[in-house]
Amino acid sequence: MPTLATTVDGLKLPNPFIIGSGPPGTNLSVINRAFKEGWGGVIAKTVSLDASKVINVSPRYSKLHALSGEVIGWENIELISDRPFHLWIDEFKRCKDGQPKGALIASIMEEYNKDAWIEIVQRCEAAGVDAFELNFSCPHGLPERKMGAAMGQDPEILEVVCGWVKSATSKPVWAKMTPNITHIEEPSRAALRGGATGISAINTIRSVTGVNLDTLRPEPTVEGYTTPGGYSSKAVKPIALRMVMEIATMIRAEFPGRTLSGLGGIETGEDAAQFILLGSDTVQVCTGVMKFGYECVKPMQDQLLAFMAKHKFETLADFKGRSLDYFTTHADLVKRQAERKAAQKAATASKVVKSDGEWSGDEFVKQSDALSRG
Ligand SMILES: Cc1cc2nc3c(=O)[nH]c(=O)nc-3n(C[C@H](O)[C@H](O)[C@H](O)COP(=O)(O)O)c2cc1C
Repeated sequence: MPTLATTVDGLKLPNPFIIGSGPPGTNLSVINRAFKEGWGGVIAKTVSLDASKVINVSPRYSKLHALSGEVIGWENIELISDRPFHLWIDEFKRCKDGQPKGALIASIMEEYNKDAWIEIVQRCEAAGVDAFELNFSCPHGLPERKMGAAMGQDPEILEVVCGWVKSATSKPVWAKMTPNITHIEEPSRAALRGGATGISAINTIRSVTGVNLDTLRPEPTVEGYTTPGGYSSKAVKPIALRMVMEIATMIRAEFPGRTLSGLGGIETGEDAAQFILLGSDTVQVCTGVMKFGYECVKPMQDQLLAFMAKHKFETLADFKGRSLDYFTTHADLVKRQAERKAAQKAATASKVVKSDGEWSGDEFVKQSDALSRG
């Protein structure tokens, strides 16, 4: 029988499914509900010491629908938690008093100020949280205060802040990366150099979901105006997988043993399997929970177990990072294909694919099929 139980950075998790920071972890009541449904861990909504500076607006979401009506993309201009820090500390304590089976992880964000980072870490740790996630990645609002993604886009600052946090706690520290950067390995590397035990990726992608063609106002429209927000849900999964692959490849080469928590568009156990095959130790779900509710963790677990049974994998470690070996350069793909074709001169596949100078009539229908197969 395969098992989903796993130990990551010393955290004993009943399964790798963790609530990603956001509305599904926004207060004690919903956090408790998540644990009751069987989530392996909960990363609470990001907190800061002075919530009075956090002022949310409404509307703050704008969804992109497929023709079927399904939500496939989700923009938000929501800030971090606007609930007072002392309330959070009380709720962290009460949550841990309930002895949940999974890990309670505090997501924290502060300005570039050593005392503030140390204070927030120490007060959360005293409240009993199991680990920390450092939000270096919120792409809207907070960067105007030089926080969130503004820090995550600056490897030097990241390294320093991770060092401050690590000096203040012996708990695991995951640095959550912004995808709004060309090479995500660079800030990830800096965070690990600074002492982070792991990386979480990705936060949302800066976006504008659309413009209302009656009012000519971009959405979500607040008093007639908007600001670019963060994009999540199914539509971002391909980008998240690519970035997870890049970070995992870097971790494997340069920081073996450090961990990776993958997220971005995960809705099924099969999605989770793909993130693990590309090097994730755990997987997080935020928008998926907002679409389907906390119960979605049950089918996700069943689907992941079914995938493991099919391949005779007993543990997550049996397949973590397995698919990383299948990435190479385009030049190498060309070389491999040329070698294969040379070795199979007479094979049907190589005969079917004609050079496009030879196409005539509707030939492209047959040829595009053949070119999809390779
Ligand atoms: C409405 C909303 C609020 C969010 N708030 C936070 C937050 O407070 N802190 C944080 O680190 N990430 C936050 N996120 C980002 C998610 O944790 C996650 O990184 C991102 O949405 C991609 O994963 P998903 O497609 O599973 O949602 C938020 C996302 C959404 C949709």
